[in-house]
Order: sequence, then C-alpha cells, then structure tokens
Amino acid sequence: MKIGLLGYGVVGGGVFELCANSEHFDITSVLCLQPESVPGGKGVANADTMLADESIDVIVEVMGGLHPAYELVSRALKAGKHVVTANKHLVCHYYKELMQLAAENGAALRCTAAVGGGIPWLTNLERARRCDFIQWISGIMNGTSNYILDTMHHSCVPFAEVLASAQRLGYAEADPSADIDGLDIRRKLAISANIAFDTGIPEEAVLTYGIRSISAQDVEAFAAHGYTCKLLASAGLQEPGSIYAVVEPTLLGADWPEASVPGNYNLISMEGQAIGKESFFGQGAGRYPTAYNVVQDLEDIRCGIRHFYTNACRDRMVDNTRLRRRYYVRTSAGSDWLTSHTECHWPQGGVITSPVSPVEMHAAIHTMEQKDPGLFAAAVL
Ligand SMILES: NC(=O)c1ccc[n+]([C@@H]2O[C@H](COP(=O)([O-])OP(=O)(O)OC[C@H]3O[C@@H](n4cnc5c(N)ncnc54)[C@H](OP(=O)(O)O)[C@@H]3O)[C@@H](O)[C@H]2O)c1
Repeated sequence: MKIGLLGYGVVGGGVFELCANSEHFDITSVLCLQPESVPGGKGVANADTMLADESIDVIVEVMGGLHPAYELVSRALKAGKHVVTANKHLVCHYYKELMQLAAENGAALRCTAAVGGGIPWLTNLERARRCDFIQWISGIMNGTSNYILDTMHHSCVPFAEVLASAQRLGYAEADPSADIDGLDIRRKLAISANIAFDTGIPEEAVLTYGIRSISAQDVEAFAAHGYTCKLLASAGLQEPGSIYAVVEPTLLGADWPEASVPGNYNLISMEGQAIGKESFFGQGAGRYPTAYNVVQDLEDIRCGIRHFYTNACRDRMVDNTRLRRRYYVRTSAGSDWLTSHTECHWPQGGVITSPVSPVEMHAAIHTMEQKDPGLFAAAVL
C-alpha cells in the first residue's frame, strides 16, 4: 500500500520507522517543513504532487493543528484516498464534515491514535457500539496531567515544580495549557462520546475544569482522607436521549482502578448493556505507542476497512444539570453560595459541599475565582 505522510515529527518519525520495517507499507513522500531531514530524498515541502498521485492509497496526517491539516485531509478524502490521522483537534473540530466526506467518497477515515495514543480504545469502542448499547464512557485520557498528579501524590512536590520536570522530560509542551486546563482531554472525550452515542457534539459542549491551581497541600489533604486526585473525563446517556459530558479533577478512593494509574499512562473504560464494564490501560502518548496505532489503522485499511467508526450522527443535547456530585473546594474567597452548600470542613482547610450539579459548581468556581484565582475544586466520587 502506498502512503503519503503529512508530518515528520514525534509521531511522523515513528510511523516512518515502523513502516520501513513492514513489507506492506511503502511511504513514498513526506511533507514537512525541513524536507532535507527525511531519509531517501522522500521529503517534500508541498503536498500537491502527493495528493494528485493516483498511486497513493492512503494519506497519514500527523502534522497537528487545524490548518493546513484540514484542507489537506479534505482534499485527500475528496480524491478518494483513505486517511489515517492522530490529530484529535482536527477530528473533533470537523467531526461531522470529515465523517460525511469519508462516507461520500467511500474512503476510510481512522483516528485510533488520537484518543489514548497506543491504546486500542476507539477500535474497541466501535466494536462494542455496533452490537451493544454503550451506557457511559469514562477515564484518564491525558498522560501529562496524570504524570503531574501522580508525581504530586507520591512526593507532594508543588505543581509548578512537577510541571517544569514534565517539560524537561518531554511529557509536557512548552505551553502546557491544553493538557493542564483539560482542553486535550475534552477533545478526546467529545470524539469518544460521539462514537459511543452516535452523535456529533462539539468540544465546547463538554463542561471542563483543569488542574492548574492544585497545590501540594490539597494533595496532602486528599491523601489524609484516602483519596487520589485524577483528571477524569466522563460522558453518558441519560433519559430522554440527552448525554452528560464533563472533564474535571476528581477525588477517587483506593478501590477505584483509576486511582492507581501511574505516570503518563491512560485508563479508559466503557459500560455496555451486554458487556458490562470494559477497561483499556496503556501508553496514552509517545512516539512508538502512537505510531503503533497509526500502523494498526493502516493494517485495518489494508484488510478492507472503508469507513469511519460510525456513520450515525444524531442530534443529542448535552445536559450536565442532572448529575449530582459532592465537591472539595479550597478557597480564601468568602462565598454565600459555598457557605450554604458546605456539608463538612476538612481540618486541612478545604470544605466538602452537598451534592450539586457540575454546572452549578463550575459557575460557582468561576465566580469565586474572581476573588481567589488560586482556588482549587475537585469532584468527590
Ligand atoms: N506526540 C504524541 O505522543 C501524540 C500522541 C497522540 C496524538 N498525537 C497527535 O499527533 C499529531 C502530531 O504530533 P507530534 O507530537 O508528532 O507533533 P510534532 O512533533 O510537532 O510534529 C509535527 C510535524 O508536522 C510538520 N508540520 C507542521 N506544520 C506543518 C506545515 N504547515 N507544513 C509542513 N509540515 C508541517 C512539522 O514539521 P517540522 O518538524 O519541520 O516543524 C513536524 O514534522 C498531533 O495532532 C498530536 O495531537 C501526538
């Protein structure tokens, strides 16, 4: 199978290497900003020739970002080429449009590496949804935030110090906002929820709060009460056909498998009516795990896959007002709302609220943050 590769960075370099060891895949050209860095003279600075080349069966997009990735992937699908991408931002933002383009052109569109890196999450979600009713999906879908929280839990080092070490180790980007503010994980949740529940919600519909202001004192208090804090994404079906979709720091007791997920690993679960709960654990990022899932998608296409994970895209309302969760809140801001919703005070300084909806809690967080930008809150499960 002849392949055009868009991007030759962390993932692209891995895909190039894995394909070089395969008898089935022949990468004929590679688009990148420094074409001379690609071995075998395969580097190109412009994708026009690649996209017009009828002998190229599949375009692998691992450039990242929305543009020009969107334009190139759209042109590839319109030309009847199959597309494999690891780009969650692209798939999430243009979900309905790309799914439709693939269907109209009889082309495969696969993005297994976009959610969970090397974990076969989306492929198994597809298998589950085609003969079961998925009730909910939930999990740790961002390795960087898990590395930070896990390190803080084990060593009680301040957030800023752990973030700096994550950046030195290459686990976090120079601008870590997407990871620590929950934007990366909400894109992964939106894609997963769309496939699980046959819908097409935008990422903005996911209620999101990150871990930027967690302190070592918070983590010490959690440990003293038997909790571990994880950035958890969850979405599920509710009557009558709406879904909830929330990303927020969450305190888990030791009996939750998610509580012991180490380092930059991911653990993602689903519950189906027939299968019950199934969980997937593994490397959520990194050159070879991510490239591995790209190559798995290529193998699926070689074996005849000619579609996206679902072709259904029903309108569903996201309604997060019906959930009820208790929250830990640590703030110096005086708030009548918090006082009237406090169920108990922790000796370390935080309070636990009575059960409230995440919508109400996130609104209260934003109000209190005006007075206390260092506030931290987390759901308690
Ligand atoms: N890294 C991971 O562990 C991981 C895991 C899961 C998913 N992903 C996704 O995979 C995608 C790629 O990530 P990555 O970590 O491999 O990124 P990266 O290391 O920054 O690589 C991006 C590559 O694309 C090239 N590129 C970017 N814009 C370009 C343009 N306009 N024209 C030509 N070439 C361009 C870059 O060229 P230069 O090298 O010349 O700058 C580089 O080769 C992203 O969507 C990311 O979210 C990554």
